[in-house]
Amino acid sequence: MGAYRIAVLPGDGIGKEVTRGAIEVLQAIATRFNHQFEFQYGLIGGEAIDRAGTPLPTETLDMCRQSDAVLLGAVGGPKWDGNPPHLRPEKGLLAIRKEMNLFANLRPVKFYASLADSSPLKADIIQDVDFVIVRELTGGLYFGKPSGRRVENGEETVVDTLLYKREEMTRIITVAFELASKRKKKVTSVDKANVLESSRMWREIAEEVAKEFPDVELEHMLVDNAAMQLIRYPKQFDVIVTENMFGDILSDEASMLTGSLGMLPSASLSTTGPSLYEPIHGSAPDIAGKNKANPIATILSSAMMLRLSFGLHEEANAIERAVQQVLTSGYRTADVAKKGQRVVSTKEMVDEIKAAILDDGAIL
Ligand code: NAD
Ligand code: IPM
Ligand code: MN
Repeated sequence: MGAYRIAVLPGDGIGKEVTRGAIEVLQAIATRFNHQFEFQYGLIGGEAIDRAGTPLPTETLDMCRQSDAVLLGAVGGPKWDGNPPHLRPEKGLLAIRKEMNLFANLRPVKFYASLADSSPLKADIIQDVDFVIVRELTGGLYFGKPSGRRVENGEETVVDTLLYKREEMTRIITVAFELASKRKKKVTSVDKANVLESSRMWREIAEEVAKEFPDVELEHMLVDNAAMQLIRYPKQFDVIVTENMFGDILSDEASMLTGSLGMLPSASLSTTGPSLYEPIHGSAPDIAGKNKANPIATILSSAMMLRLSFGLHEEANAIERAVQQVLTSGYRTADVAKKGQRVVSTKEMVDEIKAAILDDGAIL
């Protein structure tokens, strides 16, 4: 039996609905495996702007730093879209990633046989897809200075800066090689080396890191080609490693291999403090508050938390098995339901997954 302190940041829109679901699932795990999870809630994003005047209050950051792991829903929404840069919900997310040194974002993409017809892609293309996108999360265009607008020689000008230190590239590429050495031993490093100097340095570092992992194959791929290859033949990938913005875009694209953005979990790992777990999707304002969101991405993120932060492998497996079982039994939220299939709500999906965990005889 173990006791763990989990900081929960529901955020905005469906962030609240999906984190509630994941917490209920974690409570089922606590019951089933005799653990204690203590949940502490904090403000982030739009709600934090409204209630505390800043997208990342100091109390939230302090609480997260003192936790064993953080679970985050999503931030943002139309209400705050016109705000100045420092008062945008997304700023809170970027700030917590930077402040907690959450530089390694793992986004696993896995085929679910029962969802084969939910993807717009043909079953034979997506069958057995199993790869991880390793996205750099605390550098690149998202954080480079200068950034902003100015008037230069009477002309309105805007600048965003793509900045990386050698060490920041080395550590994320190393994470990718370490992961690949425990998997199918292939790293695809994605860049735009035909245009960007930052990508040429990235490529050079990837070659250097590869020398330390002689049993792992390294290939380089330009990002535009990678976007196409993800649809043409996704089974070629094992570990994809890429900089912040390329990873953001490619992972939303890759989610459609599983059928929905609502299926993809992620772990944002730090080597200096607690890590954070978050679905890759956003606050989905179009369906927020309607009990329609797919909670599976967040539930699978909580399984990643159990495995990667707490070393609770059996418990993580139990969550993943329960998700498989419920999907195989035909339960579908609207995003993955095909014509004629019965659609369940967020809450019903969570209840089914909880029940599957509590009934799971295989590991008793
Ligand atoms: P989004 O990911 O919120 O939604 C894109 C589409 O996918 C929408 O149609 C939405 O309904 C659907 N979708 C997303 N998650 C789903 C789920 N779990 N179940 C069912 N359907 C789901 O992206 P967007 O619409 O471009 O952005 C909306 C807001 O979310 C913006 O303010 C954006 O900045 C923010 N955002 C936040 C995060 C985050 O907090 N990590 C990530 C992405 C976007
Ligand atoms: C994500 C989101 C964020 C990102 C936004 C909301 C800042 O799209 O987590 O993928 O671009 O990193
Ligand atoms: Mn994104």
